[in-house]
Amino acid sequence: MHTDEHILEYAGAFRLVRKIAQGGMATVYEAEQLGPAGFAKRVALKVIHPHYAKEKTWLQLFIDEAKLSANLVHGNIVQIYQLGEVEGQYYMAMEYIKGPTLRMVIERHRELDRLIPPAIAAYIASRVCRALDFAHNFVGPGGNRLDIVHRDVSPNNIMATWDGHIKLADFGIAKATTSTDPVAKSPALMMGKKHYMSPEQILALDVDARSDVFAVGVVLYELLSLEPLFYEDATELLIDEVTWRPLRSIREVVPSVPKAIEEVLMAALERDPAKRPTAAAMGKALDRWCEAQAIVATPDRLQEHLAALFPATYQPSTISGEFTRFSNFQRGLRRRGDANGRRFWQRLFARIASP
Ligand SMILES: Nc1ncnc2c1ncn2[C@@H]1O[C@H](COP(=O)(O)OP(=O)(O)OP(=O)(O)O)[C@@H](O)[C@H]1O
Ligand SMILES: [Mg+2]
Repeated sequence: MHTDEHILEYAGAFRLVRKIAQGGMATVYEAEQLGPAGFAKRVALKVIHPHYAKEKTWLQLFIDEAKLSANLVHGNIVQIYQLGEVEGQYYMAMEYIKGPTLRMVIERHRELDRLIPPAIAAYIASRVCRALDFAHNFVGPGGNRLDIVHRDVSPNNIMATWDGHIKLADFGIAKATTSTDPVAKSPALMMGKKHYMSPEQILALDVDARSDVFAVGVVLYELLSLEPLFYEDATELLIDEVTWRPLRSIREVVPSVPKAIEEVLMAALERDPAKRPTAAAMGKALDRWCEAQAIVATPDRLQEHLAALFPATYQPSTISGEFTRFSNFQRGLRRRGDANGRRFWQRLFARIASP
C-alpha cells in the first residue's frame, strides 16, 4: 500500500499544506500545485481511499462522473482542475475554497442559539439553484445534453467563501459511492447524506435533476430552522419519513419564516417529482423574494454575516478594512456625492473617447 506522500514526490506536482478532513471516501488536503520558476497555485486535493479505488465498478463510475463534471465552470460550482492517478492512488485537484461549509454555518448558529436570517438562507439556496440549473442543462463539447445530476446536495457539500460567495462541491460523486459502495454495510458512512435524499433516491429508483431540487428544499428547511427536516436513523424508518409521512410546516417550527419562502420550500419538497419546480424556477422565486426585501442579500451581506459569525477564523481574500473592493468603490462615490461621481465617469469617458 502506498502512502499519500507518494503523490508529493510524483513529478513534484503537489505540496501538501495541511489535512483539511478525512471522510468516508477520501482525505481532503489543502495543497499547492507546483510549476516552473516557483509557480504555485493553491488547490484542494481529494485523495481517494485505496479500498474504493480497488473496486473496479466504483472506480469506473467515479471516473465517468469526474469526466462529465470536468467542464462545469460556473461561479457557484467548485471547479475540478484535474483527475490524476499515481500507482493506483486516485486524486482530484479542485478549486480551494477558503471558508466554512454550510454544516459549519448551521452548527455555529446553533451554538449561538440564533436563527439564520431568512434573507441569508434564501440567498444561499438561490445560489445553489443557479449551480444546479447550470449543471442540469449543461451541454457537452459534442453538443449533447449531459443530464448531470448532483445526487449529494447537502450542507457538507455547499461551501461559503469568506468573500460571501456560495460554491457547490462534489458533482455526481455520489453516483459512484451509492451505486457500488464497498463499505455500505457500515451505516455510519452513509450518515449525513441519506437525510438529504429525495423519495425516489432513497427508494433507489431512477433520479434526475428534480431529485436535486428536493435536496435543496431539505437544506433550505435546515438553514431556516437549524433542525434537520428528516432525522430517523434507521433506514426503513427514514424511508417512511421521506416518502409519505406528513412534513412539519416550517412556519409551525419557526413562525417568523415568511409565507413566500414557505411556499417555495413546499414546492421543492413535493414527493412527486413532476410537481417540483426546476432549479431555475426555484432560484428565481427566491431571488424575487430577496429583491423585495428592505436589505437585499448580496455577497457583501453574507461576508458581513460570516465575519460576525466566525470572528476567530474569518479570513477574506483581500485585507481592505472594507468588505469588498466593490463596496469600497461604491462608498467612495457616495462620499464624494453623486454629482461628483458622475463627473468622474464623464471625465474618464471623455479621455477614452478622445485620446
Ligand atoms: N474544494 C474544497 N476546498 C476546501 N475545502 C474542501 C473542499 N472540498 C472539501 N473540503 C473540506 O473537506 C471536507 C470533507 O470533504 P468530503 O467531500 O471528503 O466529505 P463530505 O463533503 O463531508 O462528504 P461527501 O462524501 O458527502 O462529499 C469538507 O467538509 C470541507 O470542509
Ligand atoms: Mg464533499
